[in-house]
Amino acid sequence: MTGLLLDWYDAHRRFLPWREDPTPYHVWVSEIMLQQTRVDTVIPYYERFMKELPDVRTLAEVPEERLLKLWEGLGYYSRVRNMQKAAIQIMQDHNGVIPSDPARLEKLSGIGAYTAAAIASIAYQVRIPSVDGNLLRVYARLAAYREDIRTAAAKKLAENAFLSVLPKDRPGDMNQALMDIGATICLPNGAPLCNDCPFAGFCETKKKGLQDEIPKAREKSEKLVDHKTVFLILADDLVLLHRRDRKGLLAGLYEFPNTEGTLKKEEAVRYCSSFGFDVSDIKPAGPARHVFSHRIWEMTGYEVRILNSIPPVLPEGYLFVPIRTLIDEIAIPAAFFAYSRLIIPVLSE
Ligand code: ADE
Repeated sequence: MTGLLLDWYDAHRRFLPWREDPTPYHVWVSEIMLQQTRVDTVIPYYERFMKELPDVRTLAEVPEERLLKLWEGLGYYSRVRNMQKAAIQIMQDHNGVIPSDPARLEKLSGIGAYTAAAIASIAYQVRIPSVDGNLLRVYARLAAYREDIRTAAAKKLAENAFLSVLPKDRPGDMNQALMDIGATICLPNGAPLCNDCPFAGFCETKKKGLQDEIPKAREKSEKLVDHKTVFLILADDLVLLHRRDRKGLLAGLYEFPNTEGTLKKEEAVRYCSSFGFDVSDIKPAGPARHVFSHRIWEMTGYEVRILNSIPPVLPEGYLFVPIRTLIDEIAIPAAFFAYSRLIIPVLSE
């Protein structure tokens, strides 16, 4: 199995920038970016990140606002905040050298068993399988494992199975080969491309024709739906922002002011007046929808011009910033992109 897989990898592996120079730092950053995010999306972010923060020290020292800006649009911002915490830990406790021991790696902020195994195997050639959702699916298909794969028991079985065939000389390549098979061939939802798979000859699921049933589908949990109204409140070249709570969804990030419910125009004007603003113009900014992992925002928006050239005293957490500063320096969560896009033309007015 190992020989087949590595031959397949040598012939078909994907070109990915972190693979071409798999230092521990490159592997670490790429693995964190790849959590919940597709390879195609990650590549430009990865390249920009490496240009600006080429090593652990620069990551440890960069101001948080700049770090968040580099992450803008990738989502799950706690990933990058944890990565910076880990970089500081590495500078302080490991002389700036990323550890190779998976147990030590797992002690760092934001590094779990999967990421620790990926760094150890790909960058340091430690013999350890890195089992993520893709590898779980490949395992379940190979072994015709019919139970739920999102359990600790399934993970253990997959780890043991892959560990038993992991080669001494190329454990990282074998892990990455399995990742590629999972991402490009052994596709979920009953749509694997078995004809292209090096395992086709001994895959139990293929033998039994059970590709539609394995892995077992996840029980669908309904996502909560929030209805919101979002405000682009503009005073000349300034836009009003609000800093979110330090805890919870999109913790500590800047957003456009928003409120629960789908407000009508008169209600929207009243919302703006509650800040003490004198509204000179208000127009709908359209609906938008953003799907998070556990909830959905159904939004409606208003673009509002206010007269006050010197805005009144604002409640805590609210501030006006120049639109240029927003564009260059502040990370706005992707949930608001439908609205931030609208103010970019304002700059050229
Ligand atoms: N997905 C997560 N990590 C990956 C890697 N190193 N190569 C390809 N796909 C991945």
